[in-house]
Amino acid sequence: MIFCVGSINLDFITNVRSLPIKGETVIGDKLVISPGGKGANQALAASRAGSKVRLIAAVGNDQNRDAAVKNILEADIDITSVVTLNANTGIAFIILDDFGENQIVVSAGANNGLSIKDVEYGLASMRSSDILLIQQEIPYHILEQAVKMASAINAMIILNTAPKNSYSPKLAKKSSIIVCNEVEFSSLFSDFFAYKQKHKDQSILDKSGQISNLLEKTFVVTLGDKGLICTSSKNKFEIPASKVSVVDTVGAGDTFCGFLSACLDQGKSLEESLIIANKAAALACTKIGAQHAIPKIGEIG
Ligand code: RIB
Repeated sequence: MIFCVGSINLDFITNVRSLPIKGETVIGDKLVISPGGKGANQALAASRAGSKVRLIAAVGNDQNRDAAVKNILEADIDITSVVTLNANTGIAFIILDDFGENQIVVSAGANNGLSIKDVEYGLASMRSSDILLIQQEIPYHILEQAVKMASAINAMIILNTAPKNSYSPKLAKKSSIIVCNEVEFSSLFSDFFAYKQKHKDQSILDKSGQISNLLEKTFVVTLGDKGLICTSSKNKFEIPASKVSVVDTVGAGDTFCGFLSACLDQGKSLEESLIIANKAAALACTKIGAQHAIPKIGEIG
């Protein structure tokens, strides 16, 4: 079973020709309002990949709550640990440009109010064969507690270092598998190795290998249309991206993490899990909206 501790948002998405620069106002086109949040997206992806999932998260008692939880309510996800707080439901303002690039601003609201007690309750039945899946869109002390509980029973911890945060190194040290994009990886690498001239011309694969050896962890670095690399103290491999026509990359990383966790939960090898997750993430780029775009396991060719 997968225990996902994370955020729930309602996403407000609009399209612009090009993303605004600082101080600029740009006029968007249509407005799409759809459920999101990295925690909810990853929980839904893991569920659509065929695993049992419990989501530990918080929403507000406002007009956006029902729309934000619609998909997770309809899915076969255990939501007994989704709490409603006297706050606004998390909101993400998402701008997409004509090239599929995006900018996101999140108003965290209830996501910042999830308590240690909520996490203790939600993870109380976790066993060593379960997986803890986390991202960084909720406060550090909550993630720290979740990681502490999973470590205590030797459960696998999958950390997605999105959005980039200064506490990633602390969580990475305690996690089993760290999934990051290039930007998050560079900042983690410099946190662990500082800037050293000798690393300057090294490939990401080499750098990832070094950080895997140093921490004795598996690193997965997603590289967009260049695919991904994976290194552990035993393995080093690259997987090319699947070719799709990209409409919207929002939620692709979440789809990847959810599918990766589910495949591992179902006993597949790391390499096979990454291949499936990579295909699922590519499919997630072909539709607008984070959750709407997450495929079901049967759609993966
Ligand atoms: O990763 C995509 C998600 O990031 C969106 O659904 C949005 O809610 C933001 O949290």
